Amino acid sequence: MTLPRVVVVTGTDTDVGKTVATAALAAVLAGAGRRVAVHKPTQTGVRPGEPGDVAEVTRLSGVPGSEGVRLLAPMAPRPAAASEGATLPTRRDHLDAVRRLADEHDHVLVEGAGGLLVELTEAGETLADLTCALPDAGVVLVVRAALGTLNHTMLTREALAHRAIRQLGVVVGAWPDDPGPVETTNLEVFSGLPEGLLGVVPSGAPSLGPEAFRASASDWLPGLAARLRENA
Ligand SMILES: Nc1ncnc2c1ncn2[C@@H]1O[C@H](COP(=O)(O)OP(=O)(O)OP(=O)(O)O)[C@@H](O)[C@H]1O
Ligand SMILES: [Mg+2]
Repeated sequence: MTLPRVVVVTGTDTDVGKTVATAALAAVLAGAGRRVAVHKPTQTGVRPGEPGDVAEVTRLSGVPGSEGVRLLAPMAPRPAAASEGATLPTRRDHLDAVRRLADEHDHVLVEGAGGLLVELTEAGETLADLTCALPDAGVVLVVRAALGTLNHTMLTREALAHRAIRQLGVVVGAWPDDPGPVETTNLEVFSGLPEGLLGVVPSGAPSLGPEAFRASASDWLPGLAARLRENA
């Protein structure tokens, strides 16, 4: 199955490890010789000049990127914009930014804010709406390992299926060093999904130096590495 040009990275929730997983995906793709960029349509919770998610992806993977808008409040984009009297980019602005990067790269990784149905525009359009408007796009779903993840994972998958969005596979954002029966049986469920498990990012991965992070990323994401070999 060919990997689409636009790889949208969403999660079952905020803080599930989307940014770190995006860095791992970027490292694997760049390591395979693909030209890769990352884009964050709405970055909240950062001051001017402070590193956001794109800076973290670049630090860990070496892949460059851009932000659509950055907002101070650590809130969802619409209330964050309202709190400082800012206007969010429109659907068209978001799509143009992704298309520009897609023209110049083999893959653009687009990291949403929070989960799939968070509003990214004043008109209430979501990451799902942006994905539907892009002709060559699919979604990687980043999930937690712990109890409760199965419901959140299946809800997001159902929302993707409802919109006929291509599902590229699941990544566990932070896999514990000492998994118990809950985590291991959750992983069995993810492995059995039709779109498959791309892999698990081990706990502590973002604390590795960039070199070690890049060297290990393809071991963490064997499902992605296998797909790239199929496409080679
Ligand atoms: N594999 C991991 N091991 C240890 N810590 C991790 C791991 N993955 C993520 N973290 C940490 O958990 C926190 C949340 O991760 P991350 O920023 O990747 O989440 P996110 O889903 O991108 O959040 P947001 O919705 O804010 O974009 C960060 O402090 C990050 O360093
Ligand atoms: Mg993030």
